[in-house]
Amino acid sequence: MQRVELKDITSGLVGTTVTVCGWVRTSRDSKNVAFVELNDGSELNHTQIVFDKAAFDDKTLSPLLALGAALKVTGTVERGMKEESVEIRATAAELLGASDPSYPLQKKRHTMEYLRTIPHLRVRTNTFNAVFRVRSELSYAIHEYFHKNGYYYVHSPIITGSDCEGAGEVFKVTTVGFDPSVKTEADYNAKDFFGRPAGLTVSGQLEGETMAMALGKIYTFGPTFRAENSNTPRHAAEFWQVEPEVAFCDINDIIEIATDMIKNIIGHLLAECRAELEFFDARFEKGLIDKLRNVVESEFARVDYADAIEILKKSGKQFVYPVEWGLDLQTEHERYLTDEYFKRPVFVVNYPKKIKSFYMKQNPDGKTVAATDLLVPGVGEIIGCSERENDYDKLLAEIQSRGMKLSDYEGYLDLRKYGSVPHSGFGLGLERILMYVTGMSNIRDTIEYPRTKDELR
Ligand code: 4AD
Ligand code: MG
Repeated sequence: MQRVELKDITSGLVGTTVTVCGWVRTSRDSKNVAFVELNDGSELNHTQIVFDKAAFDDKTLSPLLALGAALKVTGTVERGMKEESVEIRATAAELLGASDPSYPLQKKRHTMEYLRTIPHLRVRTNTFNAVFRVRSELSYAIHEYFHKNGYYYVHSPIITGSDCEGAGEVFKVTTVGFDPSVKTEADYNAKDFFGRPAGLTVSGQLEGETMAMALGKIYTFGPTFRAENSNTPRHAAEFWQVEPEVAFCDINDIIEIATDMIKNIIGHLLAECRAELEFFDARFEKGLIDKLRNVVESEFARVDYADAIEILKKSGKQFVYPVEWGLDLQTEHERYLTDEYFKRPVFVVNYPKKIKSFYMKQNPDGKTVAATDLLVPGVGEIIGCSERENDYDKLLAEIQSRGMKLSDYEGYLDLRKYGSVPHSGFGLGLERILMYVTGMSNIRDTIEYPRTKDELR
């Protein structure tokens, strides 16, 4: 289809004739002219189309003004009313796809809750148009960052036989339905597709480590799954995770890498997503752009887990969940540390071993591990990070003491038998950082089709 994308309709084209396509976002009908705000997805802003009623009779015009209709318009580019704006005065128009009057996105502002019930249409609102443009640009920035820095992009499996995080939040993958003749779990597993239990990956890390032990610096970037029974604004059952894994790299090195990556990808958004960030700043989070600029320009804070506990205890706040060395930080604790105490991104380091995963490097104190979470204001944890235990015996002991099935981790243990080196990595939740950079307060509004407990549309 011969057409000019709306983003390319600029003042340089004033006086020329163009053909454009798009969907009607809003329309206005007055005595002598009618206006349509057209959007073809090539930019966040709409382009105004002017229809002279002398040239278009009411019968032709009426379906062209219907919200949601798809049009092909030929016309002359003219200067608009607003400075530097341009509009198109239509000379011919074709209705590519009529829109039924039942179109749900009528002129009023809809609630986010309502829009979640129409995931197939909500992307046609300015808000979701902006969110998914930023999601795309952020994904690109992540690939660009790692590519430029010499990382290999590797693909870890979606179906796995191990539970990386060891939290038992794995979705089962099975082809065996209800069968009353099956009497034991072993029989059931034997009948199943793989002849053993299988699940959707919660993290690509374990396979990522394998790849890093030959390629040196790798990252995965793909969907991961958690059957967490937590119905919160920041948990999704299916989310995208970026997981770099770096050989010859300790916890301090990986913290530097994570910091550099975050600053770079946010810097990229500030440069490339101006219109979208201004939109979010105006509609969702006042001061968003300043916040992001600050992230790029200033140091991230760093605090020992033990000190964080002391800070929380001295906060004078009444938390719902207890604060005690050895207990995990809950969202309310993370939010106090970032939103009120540090007021910027903070790495909490050296967590108690008991509340963290089996693969984390044990510190000499015997109580803590070389692990850190990056917490950011408004969201909480966006990165989970650690140096990995590279000592065969310590890792084996940890797997056994946690009652994990040794046969699932034989390959992983082998990595500690054949040329084990210090190595570290982290996982960045794409939707979590999207919440941070867009000001969306619910993870369901950062992914096209959110999957959460009891919700699958
Ligand atoms: O902290 P997590 O569980 O760490 C890992 O999975 C490691 N294997 C990562 C690694 O070292 N390679 O998850 C990492 C990040 C979290 O910080 C969070 O941003 C995101 O993944 N995340 C979720 N995002 C949305 N919904 C959920 N249910 C999430 N669980 C984790
Ligand atoms: Mg975590």
